Amino acid sequence: MRIRSKPWAKEELNSCYFFEKEPEKYKENWKEKFNNNNPIHIELGCGKGIFVAKIAKAHPEINFIAIDIKMDILGVAKRNIEKLFDKKIVSNVVLVQKNIEQINDIISGNDNIERIYINFCNPWPRGKHQKRRLTHTRLLLKYKQFLKSGVEIYFKTDDEDLYNSSFRYFKAADYKIIRYTNDLHRDNIFTENFTTEHEEMYTKEGIKIKAIIAKV
Ligand SMILES: C[S@@+](CC[C@H](N)C(=O)[O-])C[C@H]1O[C@@H](n2cnc3c(N)ncnc32)[C@H](O)[C@@H]1O
Repeated sequence: MRIRSKPWAKEELNSCYFFEKEPEKYKENWKEKFNNNNPIHIELGCGKGIFVAKIAKAHPEINFIAIDIKMDILGVAKRNIEKLFDKKIVSNVVLVQKNIEQINDIISGNDNIERIYINFCNPWPRGKHQKRRLTHTRLLLKYKQFLKSGVEIYFKTDDEDLYNSSFRYFKAADYKIIRYTNDLHRDNIFTENFTTEHEEMYTKEGIKIKAIIAKV
């Protein structure tokens, strides 16, 4: 996602109590960071943080690690989370800047991650770039290094080709497809659906939202 440069983002994030500057320090210890034993869910490519803000506010009993590669966008996410929490302490979200390619540097099997959300990841339509898709088999195998059997990935996209290819990626990485739909707003396969920034944008354009739940 292209956004205008946010010269304030780095400084603001570095003084934000729910942004973690050194996430590697917490590998195997995320429970310590959250200071409780609540389940931990992670969002890969959180963008402007609209989804994590909504779900974390609705579920204070779950901890969320929201990861994006770009500081500028994380700065916007920080402000969106603060806005929705409206002066309440944000105790169940940690924002992290990391390339998902290196996710195994920050999360281990001992962190007992209980769910992954992948919302509207970049579709990388060109053949040689497709391996960068966050649902590509190559990355699904990296997530499997820390996911216990039975953990689910909740995936949403607007992109037809990414949706269709992801069935193949999940199967090749030996995940089991549990539920899927090519129209999430008609057949909600999730118990609750919290919309993301991209989901709202594509829905306004009349594009159907596709979704898959896959299990390790
Ligand atoms: C199309 S946006 C979707 C944002 C948000 N999830 C939504 O649904 O509105 C994709 C996001 O993934 C992030 N991203 C792309 N590749 C990434 C990677 N390898 N590691 C971490 N974040 C990545 C981008 O910076 C961008 O914020």
